[in-house]
Amino acid sequence: MAIKTVGVLGCGLMGSGIAQVSAAAGYKTIVREVNDAALQAGLSRIKKFLADGVAKGKVTDEAQAKTLANLTGTTNPADLKECDIVIEAIVENLDEKRALYEAIEAVIRPDAILASNTSSLCITELAATTKRPDRFGGIHFFNPVPLMKLVEVIRSLTTSEQTAEVLKAFATSLGKEPISAPDRPGFIVNRLLVPYLLDAIREYERGLGTIEDIDNGMKLGCGHPMGPFTLLDFVGLDTTYYIANIMFDEFKEERFAPPPLLKRMVLAGYHGRKTKRGFYTY
Ligand code: CAA
Ligand code: NAD
Repeated sequence: MAIKTVGVLGCGLMGSGIAQVSAAAGYKTIVREVNDAALQAGLSRIKKFLADGVAKGKVTDEAQAKTLANLTGTTNPADLKECDIVIEAIVENLDEKRALYEAIEAVIRPDAILASNTSSLCITELAATTKRPDRFGGIHFFNPVPLMKLVEVIRSLTTSEQTAEVLKAFATSLGKEPISAPDRPGFIVNRLLVPYLLDAIREYERGLGTIEDIDNGMKLGCGHPMGPFTLLDFVGLDTTYYIANIMFDEFKEERFAPPPLLKRMVLAGYHGRKTKRGFYTY
């Protein structure tokens, strides 16, 4: 299957990154948001990343121009009608994703592949909500998408082998390294990463140390690029909270349970960098 046109649903942290790398790889890319304000915020994030890349000497003027020329933003789902593949990267919520798939399937081609960037939801359950369970799969990118090399490709019980191969080939064409991951909440990476992040919050609540000392401990002692609280703010506390609930719901193990402090911070609107307040203030 030759992919020419790519649709991306959501232009938040992840959708903007996915749209950027897709456009940079030469695909005509159409990214859809719920309203103009959210769309402009997402497109501005892409423009800023590219401009910073040019300033750092990492992105050429030509690559910046080519990426922006390949990219279109829209709020109208019907604009995705010609897409060969549509990647969904909206909020980590089953009902929201389900409602969006119904709306989007009314306009996209029957043979188009639909894939989700979900961090933790069951791919088989998502596939079952669509009219194309064989042409649905998981394609899990990492934040920040333009810099992180990994993509997890997840087959549901119903995903065809051909769909999985197209998703892997697509990830490779973006300069990423795909791995196959099982359809279990958290796949491979979040299965290991999320309990670590939640544990950091739990131990902080129990007085392990200051946020800065715990972060510096893991950065300077273990060579992690970011300490757990910097990474939590970077991923988004809301997204982490949704992921923890989904994983706890599946496994019923305490290590996946969202710590009380995380829940309260999300309820207070402290979602991390994107709201300028999380464990740190930005
Ligand atoms: N355009 C192009 N290149 C850029 C760039 C830009 N705008 N900004 C930075 N870069 C390049 C830099 O030039 C540098 O390249 P070199 O290594 O070749 O020198 C590289 O990217 C790193 O950039 P910086 O040195 O400026 O920044 P940094 O060293 O502080 O690294 C980071 C930033 C890559 C984000 C690093 O902090 C990191 O890896 N953090 C951890 C991220 C992580 O764990 N992500 C996964 C989150 S979990 C997830 O995503 C899954 C989920 O479902 C929740
Ligand atoms: P985000 O909150 O930054 O962005 C979500 C965006 O989706 C928002 O801009 C919102 O307006 C938009 N949206 C909501 N409903 C929509 C709809 N019906 N149509 C179009 N857009 C809609 O969230 P994010 O961090 O980008 O996460 C998106 C998805 O990617 C989630 O499933 C998350 O689990 C997954 N993910 C997140 C990370 C991360 O580090 N944050 C990493 C990998 C995967």
